[in-house]
Amino acid sequence: MAESVVASLSASLSAASPIGIFDSGVGGLSVLRHVRSCLKNEQLIYVSDARYAPYGERTESEIEQRTLRTGAFLLSLDVKAIVVACNTATAVAIAALRDAYPSLIVVGVEPGLKPAVLVSRSKIIGVLATEATLASDKFRILRDQLSKDGTVQFLPQSCNGLADQIERGEFSTIETMKMLHRYIAPLLQQGADTLVLGCTHYPFVLPQIEVVIRATTNSPITIIDTGAAVARQVQGQLTQRGLIIDDESKASLRAFTTGNTAALERAFLTLLGLQINVASGDF
Ligand code: DGL
Repeated sequence: MAESVVASLSASLSAASPIGIFDSGVGGLSVLRHVRSCLKNEQLIYVSDARYAPYGERTESEIEQRTLRTGAFLLSLDVKAIVVACNTATAVAIAALRDAYPSLIVVGVEPGLKPAVLVSRSKIIGVLATEATLASDKFRILRDQLSKDGTVQFLPQSCNGLADQIERGEFSTIETMKMLHRYIAPLLQQGADTLVLGCTHYPFVLPQIEVVIRATTNSPITIIDTGAAVARQVQGQLTQRGLIIDDESKASLRAFTTGNTAALERAFLTLLGLQINVASGDF
């Protein structure tokens, strides 16, 4: 981007403003943990739209409406950047969010197809994501572009119900393990040597995914999660616009949910080891 354009974009944003991070539920916490460790001095606001979860089984227009509503809520809290910590909302609605707020930094999260192609030896890659992500034009265009010369094969697998299990804290119940086996084993049996976690909820069942892999194959399998790369991208965009806070006393974390506040507080504690008070958000 030309320097003058960057300068005018930054003119209306202030380094002192917070960064908003949102997801349909607890999945975005897998991105938040990387943002926290990358951007230690920032004021972070996490929003879970749990009353409307799961996004992955909603229509495109519902997902877009919820993304814009959440965006407007974050704007009312004066954010300088929004991290769409949800593959589904990114795939379906990030363009609408950017159109609505052209001066804001908006960073999304996408299934890591490109890094998967780089590391895969068999060039057969399983992609675990929600139904809405896999059905989106954004996903289809990227998949077709990367596989058009015929050297790479993507095996998309929609994991209906898995984000719900994780929302309920059912990481290793029999039902979750059966679900993981049902979704993952066929991909490995078809020769996938790389699995892309295309939903921000899924890193929270990484140990369980590894159990399923070990029970299915002796071959080494690489798992791709883009949380750290997204955090670096946020850091890069803030740095480029001179919007990084350099005073460590400013660091803070607030959270809101449209769902159950106690459930999100529990998730913060279980998944990130953080004790925080979650506020109720109605938007
Ligand atoms: N965490 C969201 C994602 O990354 C999806 C979960 C849902 O279906 O709401 O796609």
